[in-house]
Amino acid sequence: MRPIDWVDQAGDQPGYLRLLDQTLLPLQTMMLEIRTVDRLVEAISRLAVRGAPALGVAGAFGVALAMQTLPSSEVPGAVRRIRDARPTAVNLAWGADLAAAEIPHGFDAVLDVAKQVRDDDIAASKRMARIGADELYRELGETAKQNGLRLMTICNTGALAAVERGTALGVIEEVHRDGHLQRALACETRPLLQGARLTAWELQQMGAPFDLLADSAAASTMRRGQADAVLTGADRVAANGDSANKIGTLALALAARYARIPFYIVAPETTIDRRTASGDDIEIEDRGSAEVCELQGVRIAPAGTTALNPAFDVTPADLITAIITDRRVIRPSAGERPDDETS
Ligand code: MRU
Repeated sequence: MRPIDWVDQAGDQPGYLRLLDQTLLPLQTMMLEIRTVDRLVEAISRLAVRGAPALGVAGAFGVALAMQTLPSSEVPGAVRRIRDARPTAVNLAWGADLAAAEIPHGFDAVLDVAKQVRDDDIAASKRMARIGADELYRELGETAKQNGLRLMTICNTGALAAVERGTALGVIEEVHRDGHLQRALACETRPLLQGARLTAWELQQMGAPFDLLADSAAASTMRRGQADAVLTGADRVAANGDSANKIGTLALALAARYARIPFYIVAPETTIDRRTASGDDIEIEDRGSAEVCELQGVRIAPAGTTALNPAFDVTPADLITAIITDRRVIRPSAGERPDDETS
């Protein structure tokens, strides 16, 4: 079951976007039928659909929904609302813009492009998984591979964050399928617990051995030699390789450098934003106090507490051993840049 897909028109029933509501996992598996732009924007804002590649697919199908349900004069405004629903993940605006470029050619052309975005993402995920696994074996060497790799990650970057397979978790799954995963180490990912709720669920589904870690246990786990590498996804990779990802990623990269283990970003080429020169230019989504002061709706801090809640942070390129995409391995720590096609 894909976490996001388009259900084609049947008879006089118009097509719609079907989403797995990720806010309810792992306790409930509920599919949402998204038939309007308002419902889509709401689903994106509350993270019912989330993860950069999945947001790209949602953005593209959102334009089809806009054309299907709104007068043409309202479509441009609806496209803007979709692309602005979350500011950090570049794929959302990218997918919406790609589909919107087809608006002059009509609904069917828009829908075809959206389906292409979905299918390309599936193919990209497969390629990234293989390239990433091979890169790990090359970097860590034969002995580590035969002993089995211990791979740390944060947030959720599996099939739930894409259409199938995913990014960093897709590589971890590939290593597991190859028979070389000793253990996945999933950081819980406060405040919304994508690691505990979603990554742990996906690792269970794939039958992979894993431990869940409080985010604050990550640095000491690396320092004690209990992880061989860290792999995370990205929401936006700037032209110079600085990479925005879930809050807590920078702390993992710093700890990995200190522990002398490699730190990888795994992201499709579509997450590289050549128009953003460096991480300083990436807008970081602020999600407000409540998500930090509450845990799944239950208050944990005294009434009146205010909290900082940046949803993402930026890892500078020089802390990144390599950015693994669906086409190449870019080594920012060796001076390579994502906007240089020869790297
Ligand atoms: O706020 P989220 O859950 O959408 O954040 C997702 C992440 O940070 C992922 O690591 C990123 O989108 C890459 S997903 C394959």
